[in-house]
This record gives sequence, structure tokens and C-alpha cells, in this order.
Amino acid sequence: MKILIINGPNLNLLGTREPEIYGGKTFEEYFSHLQFKFRSLELSYVQSNMEGEIINELQNAAKTFDGIVLNAAAYTHTSVAIGDAVKAIETPVVEVHISNTHAREDFRHKSFIAANAKGLILGFGLKSYDLAITSFIKDEE
Ligand code: DQA
Repeated sequence: MKILIINGPNLNLLGTREPEIYGGKTFEEYFSHLQFKFRSLELSYVQSNMEGEIINELQNAAKTFDGIVLNAAAYTHTSVAIGDAVKAIETPVVEVHISNTHAREDFRHKSFIAANAKGLILGFGLKSYDLAITSFIKDEE
């Protein structure tokens, strides 16, 4: 199974950005852990600070990936266009956030992605990504 993680604006600064909220690890460090833990899956990761690039990544990923884990960061709360892209593709998208956005400022309570996401995972720190990937794994029956 091929899963793409897409990280939005300012998430390239994880490790130094507001560590009291987002922790002290870089995403690259955490991604190595994910690759090891989920070594039976094909995980890929991209980050962009630009709205249009995130939309291109979503459209392209829909052709080759089985699932997408999307942390659109601040664009979650502002971008009709990213919300439309998630709606336009058939590949399931799980929305993730490191912080519990509902425990923060009011403007972070709105998501333009949630309505068209397969599900949402937020507030578990970087572990939110782990839980999102796990959500794509089918239960053994
Ligand atoms: C975030 C929450 C957003 O509100 C914020 O703008 C981010 C990160 C999170 O992962 O907690 O940049 O998506």
C-alpha cells in the first residue's frame, strides 16, 4: 500500500517552531521512525508552503497513492481550494493535526477539509500521523 503524507505551511520548521505546541522533533526525524514502523507500506512525504503546490500534490497523488495523510496546517482554516481538491479526488484523505485545534483559537476550529476527509485525527502530537497511517491498514480477519 502506498501512502503519501502532505505537510503544509510552516511544518518544515517543526523542531524549532513553537516547541511547546508542536514538540522538539523535526518531521524528517519522525518520518524515519514512521518508515521503520510501517516498513511493510510504501510511505512518501512532501512539504510545501504554497497552496497551489499542495493542490497539485493532491491531484497527482490521486493517480498513484492508495491513501493520503494531509496536514494542511493554516490552510486548513482558510483554503476553499484545498477543500475542493480533497473533494475532487477519489483517494481517501485523512486530515491530521499535531495540536488539538479545537482547544486553540476560534479561527482554528473551522476546517475546509474535514467534510470531505475520510476521517480526522488531531491533538496527539506527531503521533497523529502514526494513527492516521494505522487507519489505512485493514484489520486482520
Ligand atoms: C496545525 C494546526 C494549525 O492550526 C496550524 O496553523 C498549523 C499546524 C497542527 O498540526 O496542529 O500550522 O495544523
